[in-house]
Amino acid sequence: MDLYEHQAKDLFEAHGVPVSRGSVAVTPEEAEAVARDIGGAVVIKAQVKVGGRGKAGGVKLAKTPEEANEKAHEILGMDIKGHTVHRVLVAEASQITQEYYVSFLLDRANRTFLAMASAEGGMEIEQLAAERPDALAKVPIDPLIGCDVERARAIVDEAGFPLDVADAAAEVIAKLWETFVAEDATLVEVNPLISDAEGTVIALDGKVTLDENADFRHPGHTDLVDQRTENPLEAKAKAKGLNYVKLDGGQVGIIGNGAGLVMSTLDVVAYAGEKHGGVKPANFLDIGGGASAQVMADGLDVILGDPDVRSVFVNVFGGITACDAVANGIVEALKILGDAATKPLVVRLDGNNVLEGRRILDEANHPLVTQVDTMDNAADRAAELAAAGV
Ligand SMILES: Nc1ncnc2c1ncn2[C@@H]1O[C@H](COP(=O)(O)OP(=O)(O)O)[C@@H](O)[C@H]1O
Ligand SMILES: [Mg+2]
Repeated sequence: MDLYEHQAKDLFEAHGVPVSRGSVAVTPEEAEAVARDIGGAVVIKAQVKVGGRGKAGGVKLAKTPEEANEKAHEILGMDIKGHTVHRVLVAEASQITQEYYVSFLLDRANRTFLAMASAEGGMEIEQLAAERPDALAKVPIDPLIGCDVERARAIVDEAGFPLDVADAAAEVIAKLWETFVAEDATLVEVNPLISDAEGTVIALDGKVTLDENADFRHPGHTDLVDQRTENPLEAKAKAKGLNYVKLDGGQVGIIGNGAGLVMSTLDVVAYAGEKHGGVKPANFLDIGGGASAQVMADGLDVILGDPDVRSVFVNVFGGITACDAVANGIVEALKILGDAATKPLVVRLDGNNVLEGRRILDEANHPLVTQVDTMDNAADRAAELAAAGV
């Protein structure tokens, strides 16, 4: 999960990384009040999860509270690279002497962590890496050793930071590493890290990506999710513990048990869809091993909630949870959903207790359910129904 700048800075602050004084505002009036509270010049910064806000006009200096109101008015509602600005950060303006770059990240290719630093911050890192690769120090960080002040000092020296800020920068960088570890981040990036006229080093921008696999040990991290931008169906699925993924441009909803079966179901549906005017999978959901009625109902509820879905393909291979249990699950799920179930379901059951499973569905004789015995034929039927549906 990527964080907003203001959230990243809250984490920084909690771990002793110096950041500018500031607060979030959702209206120009609030921005004005924050500016008045801070006193002096402030910077109004669009809170969107995308880089290059400055260049796009999403970071503006305001010398007075009235000006803060005006600039916030300009920035709120702005579209930056497809992201609407709902909030601004009003932060104390710094007198920047120099801008630097620093980051810690998970280096998957080399199976380690990596520190990157440069005395030439401010510009985007991809551009810096492409144009001035020598100016970017890359230092692997052994997870068992970490990055203390001494190691941070070596990074700073390699990056060519000026001597008079090197010690202060090293202190900050060591604290950024503490943040990275303590919060289970996969990225902590500060661009720019700055020094001001007094030689104080401050994180002026912040980008943090948290490892969601570690959410269980950070109860506070779920509060950082922005409900406004999260896909509501993905949020619903997550809340029910289901693995749901939305796909672009498709019409067939897919429910299967097990990642492998679900992946191959996507393939056969896309293949079958070619014969039916280019029908494709709209989404997929893995109900996993224990396909109880409730899990099936939750899964169907999510899949049917996707307005792109015109037909649903339920593809289950009975194993420990046998086909009769899955069939009962489908029947019960349709009872639970009642009128909420409106789209045709193509069900293919195979594996453990398949005959009993098929019998249960036949007997229930639900008007929306069609049973097809093989995966290819079922995919074809689901694609056909999707093509015919509105
Ligand atoms: N608090 C601040 N005081 C003074 N200048 C700032 C402040 N915050 C940002 N800036 C300036 O605006 C530039 C862009 O801001 P930044 O937060 O890095 O956004 P982005 O990386 O999305 O463009 C910075 O490089 C810096 O020069
Ligand atoms: Mg930046």
